Amino acid sequence: MTNTPHINQMAEIAETILLPGDPLRAKFIAEKFFENSVQFNKVRGALGYTGTVNGKKISVLGTGMGVPSMGIYSYELINVFGVKNLIRIGSCGAIQENIKIYDIIFGIGSSTTSNFGSQFCLPGVFSPTASWELLEKAKKSADNLGIKNLHIGNILCDDAFYSDDESSVERWRKMGILGIEMESAALYMNAARYNANALCILTVSDHLLTKEITTAEERETSFTNMINIALGVI
Ligand code: HPA
Repeated sequence: MTNTPHINQMAEIAETILLPGDPLRAKFIAEKFFENSVQFNKVRGALGYTGTVNGKKISVLGTGMGVPSMGIYSYELINVFGVKNLIRIGSCGAIQENIKIYDIIFGIGSSTTSNFGSQFCLPGVFSPTASWELLEKAKKSADNLGIKNLHIGNILCDDAFYSDDESSVERWRKMGILGIEMESAALYMNAARYNANALCILTVSDHLLTKEITTAEERETSFTNMINIALGVI
């Protein structure tokens, strides 16, 4: 077995996993949504749990922030623990006028400023994309829940949260990017390379054009919608 410096080697992890960035979100999800939940990881504070939802086995793990962190966890989950379906549930900053805070975004494609893809030594530019199977199921799940404030399209996985180049947001906006987050490209590329399915479901936590930000309570409600969409996929 490959060594797993970042996840407890003995962990029992389901074929389908939810991946919030915040480890405390993982704990919250396990406590509020899972039955029979067992903690499988606390290495580096990356809290992970396995339980059941409607009788189906499911796991959740906090991945931390950014491409390298997501790169590490998604690699180990797929290649060592045999995880097949990886659903990131995170937040993003919106950059289109028709998108409001608390809206939900599914990332079909993940454009990126990250250099993560260079390791694959391809003679061109790879397009990291979501799994169609998961995307289709997530859309059906959102429809079943009556969720209307949903946008599906291209997102930007950015390496810099505090970018010195503020004008780039306008150029990404003109290319139709819906929102900016920091993990999707690593997740989609590792899923492509190592034969797994991945999807990013995001709640809009701030708006980079209107400068609106969400309050903690309001974030909670939209976060619950996002989790329910993801749970409808399994
Ligand atoms: N940029 C990058 N990641 C984010 C943002 C943002 O504005 N909001 C939430 N995650």
